[in-house]
Amino acid sequence: MLLEGKAIVVTGAGRGLGEAFAVHIAHAGAAVVVNDIDADLAERTAENIRAHGGRAVASAHSVADAVQAEAIVDQCVGEFGAIDGLVNNAGLNYEALPWQDDAEQMRELIEVNLLGTMYAGTAAARAMVERGEGGSIVNISSGASLGQRKLGAYAASKGAVASLTYSWALDMEDAGIRVNAVCPLAHTRMVWKSERALRNCPPERTPSRIAPVVLFLLGDGAHGITGQLIRCDGSQLHVLGQPHFKAPILERPVWDTDSVQRAFDEVFSAHLEPYGLEKRVPPRLRKWTEIPSRSA
Ligand SMILES: NC(=O)c1ccc[n+]([C@@H]2O[C@H](COP(=O)([O-])OP(=O)(O)OC[C@H]3O[C@@H](n4cnc5c(N)ncnc54)[C@H](O)[C@@H]3O)[C@@H](O)[C@H]2O)c1
Repeated sequence: MLLEGKAIVVTGAGRGLGEAFAVHIAHAGAAVVVNDIDADLAERTAENIRAHGGRAVASAHSVADAVQAEAIVDQCVGEFGAIDGLVNNAGLNYEALPWQDDAEQMRELIEVNLLGTMYAGTAAARAMVERGEGGSIVNISSGASLGQRKLGAYAASKGAVASLTYSWALDMEDAGIRVNAVCPLAHTRMVWKSERALRNCPPERTPSRIAPVVLFLLGDGAHGITGQLIRCDGSQLHVLGQPHFKAPILERPVWDTDSVQRAFDEVFSAHLEPYGLEKRVPPRLRKWTEIPSRSA
């Protein structure tokens, strides 16, 4: 069995993707801490795993609180003797145009999606480093991190999770801890809330179809794979390109406003990039990419 003998924490595992990850991880032989802020749902998932012969305990801690996030990891070590893997899955989302966004909602989202990932991840890293046998952290990012309409706060939180993944992979490699992120697409309540998401994500895109990617990254077969963002929408599987400094890189001892203007007029105008998940062409380039209608 792929994960035999391992102990793994899955946050936000009371429903949706996290539930599917926890059930499949247990089926692959690992003991699981099923965390969800909704205690009843966490217990339901854990009970379901136990009823099928797996090992699971429920945790109702909130990842958005550093002390509670540490307690999730402590519970794993206390119950199962170690922590070998963490799936940082707990998350929230909502849609809002920037000028209608709400400060309290933004704060709550960042606390769960970003700080929750950081709190649980750093607690797991401490336990893994102390034990000295490495481990695997799988963060859950999103294709929205590329930029999506009405999802500024959510996209920013998931972009930050991507940056965290690259940085932690660098920091933790010497300790034998691999850090990767998955950008899933699956039919969960997160999708039910949005007409647009629902169009892109029909019911057959079940959370279970993403689970094998997460299991692979947790398992020893992913040896040597770290710092990667992997996207899976049920049928497509691919690696996301890494952000990079793009050529040409112009050099001047000092840049003043005039030389910046000339750099854009003479050089960078041709190097502007389509932006956002929808790859929108910047207005300055559109005259070259759009065919004018005959009546215009
Ligand atoms: N569904 C998709 O298509 C999709 C796409 C991209 C990314 N994601 C990401 O996948 C993850 C799971 O999403 P989902 O679609 O299953 O959503 P979901 O809403 O069905 O499940 C999220 C779970 O997280 C729990 N949770 C929320 N705050 C928590 C906290 N503070 N502590 C512990 N648990 C908490 C919720 O109670 C819920 O059970 C999220 O990080 C989400 O951003 C989902």
